[in-house]
Amino acid sequence: MSLIGRHVLSSDLFDRDELERLFALADLLAPVARGREVVRVLEGAVMASLFFEASTRTRLSCESAFSRLGGSVISSTGAEIMSISKGESLADTSRVVSGYSDLIVMRHPEESAVHEFAAATNVPVVNGGNGAGEHPTQALLDMYTLHREFSRTGRSMDGRRIALVGDLRHGRTVHSLIKLVSLYRDLTIVCVAPGPLGMPAELLELAEGRGHRIELSDRPESGLKDADLVYATRLQTERFADQPLPYSDEFRIDRALVARACREDAVIMHPLPRDSRPGSNDLATDLNRDHRLAIFRQTDAGIPMRMALFASVLGVADQVPGALRPATWFQPEYTGPDDAPFYRNPAS
Ligand code: ASP
Ligand code: CP
Repeated sequence: MSLIGRHVLSSDLFDRDELERLFALADLLAPVARGREVVRVLEGAVMASLFFEASTRTRLSCESAFSRLGGSVISSTGAEIMSISKGESLADTSRVVSGYSDLIVMRHPEESAVHEFAAATNVPVVNGGNGAGEHPTQALLDMYTLHREFSRTGRSMDGRRIALVGDLRHGRTVHSLIKLVSLYRDLTIVCVAPGPLGMPAELLELAEGRGHRIELSDRPESGLKDADLVYATRLQTERFADQPLPYSDEFRIDRALVARACREDAVIMHPLPRDSRPGSNDLATDLNRDHRLAIFRQTDAGIPMRMALFASVLGVADQVPGALRPATWFQPEYTGPDDAPFYRNPAS
């Protein structure tokens, strides 16, 4: 299967071979993502990023990834500053922006919007998050992070115990992620959520249909036990029509809970943002120096993985190996002050 010219609307697009090909390309691009090497395979190409909903990581990392490949970026955030506020349709907007760009990344609070948008253009559209639907590029970078974390500790993806925790009903990242992890073999997937916020039934059926064991729990303390991966998520307050039910304090994943419940070699991830306001009961900051917390390795992985995706969709992936050259500007040895123990080779 080739990704060239494809819309990337759902994780359904990827199979295991494609994922592993993207991991290998992302590995090659990691020094470019870190500013150690340069590659210009998208010189002259333009990406449009249209975000109709709040974003820090997805918009900026897509823009950085496209720029690091030598392309340029045009960008708009918020429906209120676009002509949609004057009554223009998504279809017209899509056709217009397609005339200005070679690839479009789009985020919208309504699930159907990205499909409507993609139907009106032949330029590849990448879903940057559609309501409570999917977030396929987040799932790609999550899989790439996991692949790296498990490789570092000598584990393969197959046979692992994976705990998905939090608002699994509205969390689009876990909807895309369960589709990708279940491409691997013999997993136990533990869905840990408060009663009304469980994983949609069709996604549980999909994973079961691929031969995985599913366990349901509403108790993090027992749900996290023995997990190789703990994937925590934020309560998606913006998806509730009324006042959201808050997470109970059992869902606060902090140092004390991790000490009681998690394996020494567990990988703890979160798509971010985590809600760090008092009383929010999300992933706690007292874990920041815990070697198991992979959240910033995860955000860093978003650049090489999105570069790999854009190069593949625009048909220049094969040119990457011959086009890499050293960069000469200043780079700190490690991006974050706490990063050193996690990167044996700072260039990667
Ligand atoms: N940033 C992720 C998303 O947009 C997760 C979140 O917002 O909680 O889906
Ligand atoms: N993980 C993620 O999608 O983050 P943003 O909402 O900040 O883009």
